[in-house]
Amino acid sequence: MSERSPPGIFQCLARLDEGDGSLRPRNFDEFVGQTRTVRNLRTWIDAARKREAALDHVLLSGPPGLGKTTLAHLIAEALGAPLRISSGPVLERAGDLVGLLTSLDEGDVLFVDEIHRMPRTVEEYLYSAMEDLAIDVVIDQGPAARSVRLTLSPFTLIGATTREGLLSHPLRSRFGVSEKLAPYPADDIEEILVRSAVRLGCALDQDAAASVARRARGIPRVANRLLRRVRDVADLHNEGRIDLGVVDQALEMMGIDALGLEEMDRRLLSCLVRLGGGPVGLRTLAAAVSEEEDTLELVYEPHLIRLGFLLKTPRGREITDTARAHLELDAGDAEASLFPS
Ligand SMILES: Nc1ncnc2c1ncn2[C@@H]1O[C@H](COP(=O)(O)OP(=O)(O)O)[C@@H](O)[C@H]1O
Ligand SMILES: [Mg+2]
Repeated sequence: MSERSPPGIFQCLARLDEGDGSLRPRNFDEFVGQTRTVRNLRTWIDAARKREAALDHVLLSGPPGLGKTTLAHLIAEALGAPLRISSGPVLERAGDLVGLLTSLDEGDVLFVDEIHRMPRTVEEYLYSAMEDLAIDVVIDQGPAARSVRLTLSPFTLIGATTREGLLSHPLRSRFGVSEKLAPYPADDIEEILVRSAVRLGCALDQDAAASVARRARGIPRVANRLLRRVRDVADLHNEGRIDLGVVDQALEMMGIDALGLEEMDRRLLSCLVRLGGGPVGLRTLAAAVSEEEDTLELVYEPHLIRLGFLLKTPRGREITDTARAHLELDAGDAEASLFPS
């Protein structure tokens, strides 16, 4: 970290890496799936390198856990540039952002996570920084107040957001590259699991990998989290070998069913049933299950929608017959285990 860094603005890399950092792909070749995004990014990076120019600003959007932060690291690595990390909510005052921008050296990559959460007053300073490599700051007050133009070194801004729709038009339009990440197909998740197992040094059966993959909601972070828990059970009860039996045992302990539904998914669906099946507004639903609206919308609903369990209509959320059938099946299973024949 450079000595000129304004205090409190950079987040500690180690803290960000906590948990799944050790499984993070180290280069583009290790990054599984999202082939179009990776191909595009590599092209723009190669072209920028060839011209010895800074890469155009990049916006990465998509739900949590799909690889936005990972891609930011990989882009900086491919550019051979240091990655400076900050985030929208941390940049509370314009001065924070100005200090950060003026501390950048030529070619540096600045990563702003959760960029949609940057206050609008701060965001406005980014416009001229991104477009003209300059910021106008007002110094002094009253009659002595005057505006001073600070020029910046050419840099690349990488913005990550889970809510692209909340970005203002002026900000969004200043990103020359915009890539959206979507949940991964089960095959990709399986490949990620196999690679992670190698990195964790554990033996993972093919059918066990497929079983975990089916229940990871298409999200690499979820897949790696499940793998760690499955490994715990394997270490304690199966001499470290992860087979189907171990997977079933571990996922049952975590309350995750065959389709990857968790306790919260089931609560959400049961609430909908109790509320007559819908349509129910997001706010009501969030209150009913005591969860943040954002979390419901970004983390839980997409998987339920993909499974065909939930419909998002203009009047609210509705449960489908497929979901009702699954819930009944589940209830039947629970009864069967309570009253074994
Ligand atoms: N395409 C991928 N291939 C392999 N692992 C991945 C991939 N995308 C994400 N991961 C894993 O998932 C974790 C979460 O990814 P991250 O980049 O932090 O997601 P986001 O920033 O979008 O929330 C990473 O630490 C990494 O281990
Ligand atoms: Mg991230």
